[in-house]
Formats: sequence, C-alpha cells, structure tokens
Amino acid sequence: MVSNVAPVLAELEPEDFHLLSGIEQGMRFSEWVARGKIPEYARLTSEDVDYRLDRCEDRGLIERKTIQYTGFRLTFEGYDALALHTFAERDSIEGVGSSLGVGKESDVYEVQSYKPLALKYHREGYTNFREVMREREYTADREHVSWLYTARKAAEREYTVLEELYPGVSVPRPVDHNRHAIVMERMDGVELSRTKLEDEQVRPVLDLILREVQNAYKEGYVHADMSEYNVFVHEQGVTVFDWPQAVETEHENARELLDRDIENVLGYFERKYPRAVDDVDSTDLATVIADGGFESIDAV
Ligand SMILES: Nc1ncnc2c1ncn2[C@@H]1O[C@H](COP(=O)(O)OP(=O)(O)OP(=O)(O)O)[C@@H](O)[C@H]1O
Ligand SMILES: [Mg+2]
Repeated sequence: MVSNVAPVLAELEPEDFHLLSGIEQGMRFSEWVARGKIPEYARLTSEDVDYRLDRCEDRGLIERKTIQYTGFRLTFEGYDALALHTFAERDSIEGVGSSLGVGKESDVYEVQSYKPLALKYHREGYTNFREVMREREYTADREHVSWLYTARKAAEREYTVLEELYPGVSVPRPVDHNRHAIVMERMDGVELSRTKLEDEQVRPVLDLILREVQNAYKEGYVHADMSEYNVFVHEQGVTVFDWPQAVETEHENARELLDRDIENVLGYFERKYPRAVDDVDSTDLATVIADGGFESIDAV
C-alpha cells in the first residue's frame, strides 16, 4: 500500500524538491536515473545531491538500484510529494486528511481547503499503447513506458472530462490538477453499491442515474466504466465519478460502450431489486438515451 506522504512534506526543504523534480526529469529518458546525471537535472552540487538522496531515500520518496551503475527513481510517494507540494504552493489545498478510498488504480484522500475537497492520485493509466508510441514523451528508452507517464495521462484525462461535464452533468466539481493528481469537490453520500434503497426509491434513483448518462452523452462523452462503484447516492440526488477512461461520443466504440454502461447499471438494479426492475430492454433503453429522449424508466 502506498502511504500518505503529507506528514513527510513538512520535513522537506526546497532543495529536496529540486532533487525530486530532477529525478522526475531524468525518468523521461530512463527508468533508473544515473547518479552522475542528477546534479545537472536537479541543479544542485554533487555533495548536496548525496545528502539529499539519503534524506529522500530514508523517507521512501526514491529508490536506489545498483547493477552496472547506481540509479534512482521516484516511488509513488515521491511523485505524490511533488504533486502535493505544487498544490500547496498554489494554495489549492491546506492539508491532507484521512483516506476516502483505495483502489487498484488510485488513492483518494480528503483534503482541507476553504471547504472539504478530495485528492485523487492516479496509480496507473488507461492510455492505449498506440497513443504512447505516438507521443513518446516519457519513453526514450524503447521498452520502457513509465507509470509516471500513464498515471499523469489518466489524471489529465479525468480532469479534462470533469471540466467539460461540470456542471451540466452531476460530477464532482474539478478544482485543480498536477502531474498524476486531481483535486475535486468532495462528494457527500455513499456508493450505490453500499446503499439499500427503499422500494419506492429504486426506480427514481435508476432514473436519476440514467439521466446523467444521457446528460453526459449530450455533452459528448460516454463514461465507459459505469457501475454501482462509480455512482454516489446522496440527499440531493446522484453523482457519477471516476472518469479517466471516458470516450468521446464520436469514438468508433462509443455506442458499444454506452450499451455496456447501461447494461451494467440495469443489470445491477435487476439483481439487487428484482421486483422493481425486471421488464426493461437495455438495448432499447440505450437507443432512447443516445437519441436524448429518456425521461423515466416507466416510459420506456
Ligand atoms: N470526489 C470524491 N469525494 C469523496 N469520495 C471520493 C471522491 N472520489 C473518489 N472517492 C472515493 O474513492 C474511491 C475510489 O475512487 P475512484 O472510483 O474515482 O477510483 P478507482 O476506483 O481507483 O478507479 P477504478 O474504478 O478505475 O478502479 C471511490 O469509491 C470513493 O469512495
Ligand atoms: Mg471507481
């Protein structure tokens, strides 16, 4: 598990961040950055580099490997520290609180600011390999596609989509992004998967979710990972989150992905609330939603 780096940040000096961002730069070209190249990347003297390599290694921000040469790379924590430092400098956040969620692909924390916000660090990307090959920014070394690159791409993608969708679609309001991390509004409520709806709430909540799917489609996006884990239910309605894999409606697979999203949502409701939802054809529903004519499941 990746640990929360926020407490470590207070111990770091400006030159430690120079070292970390120097290693970050070196990782564009190779997985392990040779010790000899670090003073130039980090703009520090060789003695200072040695001192700060030890400090950062002790704090779990970098790792060392010695085979033909001694090389260093950032750990997740080191990359987190760089992003967090940037957010703090921009006054986007004032402090990091407890964990809100740990996924295979992300870590989400509560953060303090003028109001409670959420900070999501991406841990891996969805970037397809062709795109990586085209851009090659982090990948001078042919075999090596750095997680720094894919995680950063995933965060950029999620942030862009949130900016496009908010406020037309009920998504967390995007606040800031840097590297592999995004800051957004902290949602109230609880995941759909952990909610037990009363009989009379089932169809209205399903309607709310399907209307958001339709709203997103009208704004030009298909979520492409719709499930009971990516919807929050709260007093004001529903919020759909977790958008890094979203695709544009012009994408060749968009319609197929829309069908699958709707099938996932309906399938969940049919399994969990069989008495309330058992007569809906998901393909018909997807057609209605793609045409923008959905209002209520009772009318389909
Ligand atoms: N803005 C937010 N406010 C409150 N909690 C959040 C917020 N964003 C995420 N969370 C919590 O963190 C968990 C993980 O977030 P998210 O679904 O975005 O990432 P993920 O599950 O790792 O991604 P994937 O579903 O692709 O594996 C959520 O289930 C939710 O509990
Ligand atoms: Mg999720």
